[in-house]
Amino acid sequence: MKRILVTGGAGFIGANFVRYLLEHSSAQVVVLDALTYAGNRESLNGLPEDRVELCIGSITDASLVDRLVSDSDAVVHFAAESHNDNSLHDPAPFLETNILGTYMLLEAVRLHNVRFHHISTDEVYGDLELDDPARFTETTPYNPSSPYSSTKAASDLLVRAWVRSFGVRATLSNCSNNYGPYQHVEKFIPRQITNILNGEKPKLYGSGNNVRDWIHVDDHSSAVWRILQHGQMGRTYLIGANGEENNRVVLETILELMGKNANDYEKVPDRPGHDLRYAIDASPLRVELGWVPQHEDLAQGLSTTIQWYTENRAWWEPLKQQTEARYESQERDRKLEAVKTVGTA
Ligand code: NAD
Ligand code: TYD
Repeated sequence: MKRILVTGGAGFIGANFVRYLLEHSSAQVVVLDALTYAGNRESLNGLPEDRVELCIGSITDASLVDRLVSDSDAVVHFAAESHNDNSLHDPAPFLETNILGTYMLLEAVRLHNVRFHHISTDEVYGDLELDDPARFTETTPYNPSSPYSSTKAASDLLVRAWVRSFGVRATLSNCSNNYGPYQHVEKFIPRQITNILNGEKPKLYGSGNNVRDWIHVDDHSSAVWRILQHGQMGRTYLIGANGEENNRVVLETILELMGKNANDYEKVPDRPGHDLRYAIDASPLRVELGWVPQHEDLAQGLSTTIQWYTENRAWWEPLKQQTEARYESQERDRKLEAVKTVGTA
C-alpha cells in the first residue's frame, strides 16, 4: 500500500491515524476532508509535506472522489458527522455524509478495484443493560438508537452489500468510544477538561450511570492498521480495550487528576434516548490478528490527555465558545419542544 487515501483525516481519529501511518509505514497519505466545524487543518500541522497532502472537499463529490480513489492503493474511510447530540437537532448532514458519502466512495472503489476499510462505531448495536454481563460481538443484531448511529449502521450495511454483490475488497471495524489528543471539545472528555481549564463546571448528563468502553485513539489506530494489512475480506472486526467505566467515575477521575474536588460538577438534563451501556468483545481481533492494545490504563490515558489539552490551548480555544453556544441553543430547543409537547397533550 504505497498511497493511502484517508477520508476525514483532519478530524479527531483520522488525524491521529495519519500520524500513526507516518510513524509505522512508508505510505504516502492523501487526506480528503471537507473541513466541517469538526475538521481542523491544524491537527495535521508539522507533518512532512512530501508524505501528506490535504485535499479539501466532500466525500459526496463523485468526480473528486473518483479521481482520488483511482490514484490510491487503499482507502481508509473515517469521514462522518460524528456527534450524537448534533444528530438529535439536525439529522440531515448525517444522512448526506454518512450514507450518501459512503455510497460515493463504494462506487469509486468498486470501479477502480481499490482496497477499502470502513470505520464505524459500536453504537450500531444499540445499548446493553447496566447489569448485563454480555458484550457486543460481530454477530450482535443491529439496533441503533440515534440519527447518528442509524446512519452509521446504514453505511455499514452498504459496505457489506458492496462486498457481497460486487466483490468489493473491504473490511469493516466497529470501535468503542475513543479519547486522546485532537478530539473536538464537543465530546465528553475534552468538553469536561476544557471546562475545568476555563474555570467552568463540567456537565454530566442525567444520572451519570451510563457506561462507555473507553479506548485510547492510538490503540484504535494500531487496530485499524493491523486490519488493513491482515484482515479477512468482508469481515467485521470489533475494536475495544476493556475500558468500561461510567460517566460519573470518568468525570470524578478527571476532576481529581486536575486537582479539583471530585464533586465539583453540574448535573444537566439527560440526552434524549441516551444509550445506557456499550461494551466490546474484541477477542477475534486479539486472537486472529494478534492485536494488543498499549494504553489500557484509563487514568494514565486521561492524565496524558489532560496534559495535551493544557499544553495546546491554541488548538481548542477557538472552538470552545461556539461549541458551548451550540449546546445552549440545543438546550433551548429541547425546552421549547417539551413545552410544545405539553401544550398538545
Ligand atoms: P470527527 O467529527 O472528529 O471528524 C470527522 C471528520 O470528517 C472531520 O474532519 C470532518 O471535517 C470530516 N467530514 C465530515 N463530513 C465530511 C464530508 N462530507 N466529506 C469529507 N470530510 C467530511 O469524528 P471522529 O470522532 O474522528 O470519528 C471518525 C470516524 O470514527 C467516524 O466515522 C465515526 O463514526 C467513527 N468512530 C468514532 C468514535 C469516537 O469515539 N469518536 C468511535 C467509534 C467510531
Ligand atoms: P459523547 O462523547 O458525546 O460520545 P457518545 O455519545 O458517542 O457516547 O458522550 C459520551 C458519554 O458522555 C455519553 O454517555 C454522554 C455523556 N456526556 C455527558 O455526560 N456530558 C457531556 O457534556 C457530553 C458531551 C456527554
